[in-house]
Amino acid sequence: MNYAARITGTGSAHPLKRLTNDDVARRIARHGIETSDQWIRDRTGIRERRVADVQSSAETNSSLGAAAAQKALEMAGRSAEDIDQIIYATCTPDTIIPSTSCWLQQKIGAERAWAMDINAACSGFVYGIVTAEQFIRSGHARTCLVVGAEVLTQFVNWRDRNSCILFGDGAGAAVLEQVPARTPRRILSNHLLSNGDLNGLFLIAAGGSKLEVTPERYHQNLHKIQMNGREIFKVAVRTLVDCAERTLAKNQMTIEDLDWFVPHQANIRIIEAVAERLKLSMDRVLINLDRFGNTSAATIPTVLDEALREGRIQTGQTVLFDAFGAGLTAGAVLLRW
Ligand code: ACO
Repeated sequence: MNYAARITGTGSAHPLKRLTNDDVARRIARHGIETSDQWIRDRTGIRERRVADVQSSAETNSSLGAAAAQKALEMAGRSAEDIDQIIYATCTPDTIIPSTSCWLQQKIGAERAWAMDINAACSGFVYGIVTAEQFIRSGHARTCLVVGAEVLTQFVNWRDRNSCILFGDGAGAAVLEQVPARTPRRILSNHLLSNGDLNGLFLIAAGGSKLEVTPERYHQNLHKIQMNGREIFKVAVRTLVDCAERTLAKNQMTIEDLDWFVPHQANIRIIEAVAERLKLSMDRVLINLDRFGNTSAATIPTVLDEALREGRIQTGQTVLFDAFGAGLTAGAVLLRW
C-alpha cells in the first residue's frame, strides 16, 4: 500500500461537576453502603471523577465528543468540512438509534463525512484508530475523526461499591490524516483481540433487544453495570502485557524502544503490574485516572491529549496505546509521534 496514517490533532473535554471519593462515600452511605477515600485511593489510585449533567445540552455524550473533536481539528489545522469519516467509540450512546456519531456530525457540521459508532467498550478508541487507519491506508479516506466518549455514570449502580467508585464521564478525539507509506511519523503496528467467552465479567444485562427493562428488572438494577472486578483485574494484566509485546514485536521493537506507554486507565494497580511485567519505568507511563477515573473509551485519547498539550510527547518519540475492556476486547497501537 502507498499510504499510512498519522494522528495530526487531539482534543479532550470533561463535564464540569467533580465527584470526589468523599462525595461518593456520602452518596452510597444513603443506601447503607460503606466506602472511604482512603480505600478507593489505595485500591484504585482514583481521587475524583467527573459526572455529566445530561439535562444540560452541553454535557451529553455527543456534546462532550463534539467539544473534544473541535479541539482536535484546531490542533490539526483542519475544519469539519475536511472530515471524510467519523468513527465514534462508545458503549454509552446518546440514543440506541441514531448513532452518536450522527449526533456529533450534526453538532460539528461535518457535512461531507460518513459516520458510524463502534462498541468495543474500553478498547473502543484503539479499535477506532485501527479501523480509521485501514480506510486511510486503502485510499478510501484521507481525513478521519476518531472519538472515544462515555457517560458511564448513567449506568453505575450506586448500590454496588465494587464498581460505582471506578467510573467517570469524558471525551477524547483524534484527527487521522493520510501520509505517504514510509513517512517516519505514522501509525506503525497494532494487535487486536477479543474473547467472547469472558462476556459475563462486565455486563449491562437489560436495555438491549434481548432483555427489556421491566419494572422488576429496574428494581434489580439489571440496566446498570455488573462487574467481576477481581477476575477482570487478573485478565487485564495478562492481556495488556500480551498486546503490548505483540505490537512491539510486529515492528521489531522491544520495550527499550518505547518512549511513552498510554494504557487504559482502569486502576493504578493494574497499570503498575503491567509496567512491572514489561520492565517499564512508571515515569514513561501516562496517567490521569487520579482525576477522571475510568472513562472507558475516553481514557486513552484524553490522557494522550493532556500529555501533548503539556509538551511531554516530542516529535519522533514512540507511543504505545494499550487497552482492554468488556467483551472481552483488547488491543494495542504503536506509533511514532
Ligand atoms: N470500599 C470499601 N471496601 C470495598 C469496596 C469499596 N468501595 N469495594 C470492595 N470492598 C471490599 C470487598 O468487599 C472485600 O471485602 P472482603 O475481603 O471482606 O470480602 C475487600 O474490599 C477486597 O475486595 P476485592 O474485590 O478483592 O478488592 P480488589 O483489591 O480486587 O479491588 C477493584 C476491587 C477496585 C474493583 C479491582 O478488582 C479492580 O479495579 N478491578 C478491575 C475493574 C475494572 O477494570 N473494571 C472495568 C473493566 S471493563 C471496562 O473498563 C468498561
